[in-house]
Amino acid sequence: MVVKMEPTISRRVRPKTVAQIAAEWDTLASDRLRQIDTGIDSTYNNVLAPAMIDVCTTSTASRVLDVGCGVGRLTRELARYYDNVVGIDPSRISIETAQAHNSAKNIRYVHASVEELSLGSPGKFGLVVANMSLMATPSLETALASIARLLTIGGQLTLSVPHPCFWPLHRGFANQPWFDYKCEMFIESAFSLSSETLKTASTYIHRPLARYIQVLSQNGFILLSLEELSLPLRESTSTVGTIDQPKFLLATAKLPGSGERKNALSGELASSIS
Ligand SMILES: C[S@@+](CC[C@H](N)C(=O)[O-])C[C@H]1O[C@@H](n2cnc3c(N)ncnc32)[C@H](O)[C@@H]1O
Repeated sequence: MVVKMEPTISRRVRPKTVAQIAAEWDTLASDRLRQIDTGIDSTYNNVLAPAMIDVCTTSTASRVLDVGCGVGRLTRELARYYDNVVGIDPSRISIETAQAHNSAKNIRYVHASVEELSLGSPGKFGLVVANMSLMATPSLETALASIARLLTIGGQLTLSVPHPCFWPLHRGFANQPWFDYKCEMFIESAFSLSSETLKTASTYIHRPLARYIQVLSQNGFILLSLEELSLPLRESTSTVGTIDQPKFLLATAKLPGSGERKNALSGELASSIS
């Protein structure tokens, strides 16, 4: 059921499991397909997906993994550039929807979390893409450790998340008494776009920016680039005076290649965060 332009109310909730998060995306799957395919989610179609494809396609990998692929629209785009693409998601209905609506022969969809997949396919993928999925997964540590296991030596990770510094302002919970930027916390709200708010809840896991960088580093990743994406003015639902803050963060990181330093973070990281 769709409700037009209701203000979104967010609340802090107890930590959830991957299965609980997946159940939310089960409920949202058909709406997500509709929003993307009809163009209602113009942010996804015109801002996020093109930016992700631009960044991802710098990789020359032949095997690509889309972690938290949802209904598989970005997976389908990736399959235009790469020989072999696997989309995984713990939401069974999202995976079934993806399978039913994407016929490309070089895509395989698997119902699994990244943690589950990493038990069976170590070192298989030259590129892992995580579009808006790491802020939806309960443990950043196990997710990034699993991604590191799944990547080949020198493999690339390209990720996007809502910008941790500005999303709280954009979604109107920055000034709530329960919100503390420095803490990881699970925040539930009705899934909403600028043009519609659904009745169904989804959970956003807030983590400070430094946390993403620390956990990438702990898992041996070298940060190659950080991009802060703003929305066209008409797309913004910001609740604060200025609406020109970046809404999404895109990062590309890689594992060291053979012969490169294992812990190459300091110099390269410092020069890439400017
Ligand atoms: C916001 S949706 C993003 C969907 C998709 N990437 C897109 O661009 O439309 C977040 C997805 O991450 C998935 N997810 C959450 N935890 C995960 C995990 N541990 N492993 C893989 N996917 C996960 C959820 O089930 C959900 O489908």
